[in-house]
Amino acid sequence: MKNKKAVRAGGKLYIAGEYSILTPGQTAIIQFIPIYMQADIQPSSTYRIQSDMFSFAVDLTPQADYALIQETVHLMNAYLQLQGVALAPFDLSIEGKFEREGKKFGIGSSGSVVLLTLKAMAALYDFPLPADLLFRLACLVLIQRGDNGSIGDLACIAYEGLVSYRSFDRRELAEQLQDQGLDQILALDWRYEIQPLAPQLSYTFLVGWTQEPAISRDLINQVRSAIDSVFLERTEQAVQDLLVAFQEADRDLAWSSISRASDLLGSLNEVIYTKKLAQLKRAEEGLEAIAKSSGAGGGDCGIALAFEEAAAQEIVRRWQEAGIDLLYSERMGEYDDQPKG
Ligand code: PMV
Ligand code: MG
Repeated sequence: MKNKKAVRAGGKLYIAGEYSILTPGQTAIIQFIPIYMQADIQPSSTYRIQSDMFSFAVDLTPQADYALIQETVHLMNAYLQLQGVALAPFDLSIEGKFEREGKKFGIGSSGSVVLLTLKAMAALYDFPLPADLLFRLACLVLIQRGDNGSIGDLACIAYEGLVSYRSFDRRELAEQLQDQGLDQILALDWRYEIQPLAPQLSYTFLVGWTQEPAISRDLINQVRSAIDSVFLERTEQAVQDLLVAFQEADRDLAWSSISRASDLLGSLNEVIYTKKLAQLKRAEEGLEAIAKSSGAGGGDCGIALAFEEAAAQEIVRRWQEAGIDLLYSERMGEYDDQPKG
């Protein structure tokens, strides 16, 4: 075991496929957001874990606020032990809240903190942890906790890029976890697919933050019963069309597929498009752009794809007018209308 190590983990936002992705075999497209949490880890005589989310540190004695991190440590310790690593206590310090003035952005902090903890421990022991193993270990932590999310966030944040993710059967895996060891579980084919994407289509990806925190767990519980086969089929079609649009640089198909995905969310349940998120979407009007709610909705963030620079600027201006902050923007592909020189 070496000296002090530092690692980081970013955030994510759904472009399309939210709610649908909760059903095994469905696909979502998820964008990596390079806003980071950082962890410092070093050997220590006793376990000490400190997150800047809280004003106190803990050891491994169960503590509700730290349960997610503590459970991640236990799972990773079990895994490392199976790999023949000699375990020793450490000091882990986590910084970088995904929030401003106490209001969270909603870009995946709970998934990110699990990945961050796993990465920190791997770094401490110089244990190589490829993205796929990182993803699966993080999945096990969340499934063991009975998390009701799809785990799409973990796929995106573990791979640190724009991905398409096809979900596996989390309930089946939870059952297998009852009577099989960690090594057996990890040897199984979980039947998911994570595909890193490199769109040929040119656009500016924009993230608008409503400043209204939403709790995905509660929204899922409210919305879940409305998810039916028509919603699933149509959302999957929209997602598959968007994948084609990215690959073939087809602006119209990108526009129509995101538009359909958005309408499907809008008619799934009225809690998804809050007033602010509806304003965020309306900012697209008359522009070469498409906007939609992202993730569970009910607040947090929405996204836009602007196909011209002027449209991107106008969307940001309209968002500002509506009290929506530009949290992040990224140019994807090559622009035709960039100012020369
Ligand atoms: O709002 P977020 O970023 O937590 O996204 C939730 C997306 C859902 O599909 C609604 C739930 C999930 O875990 O995939
Ligand atoms: Mg959210």
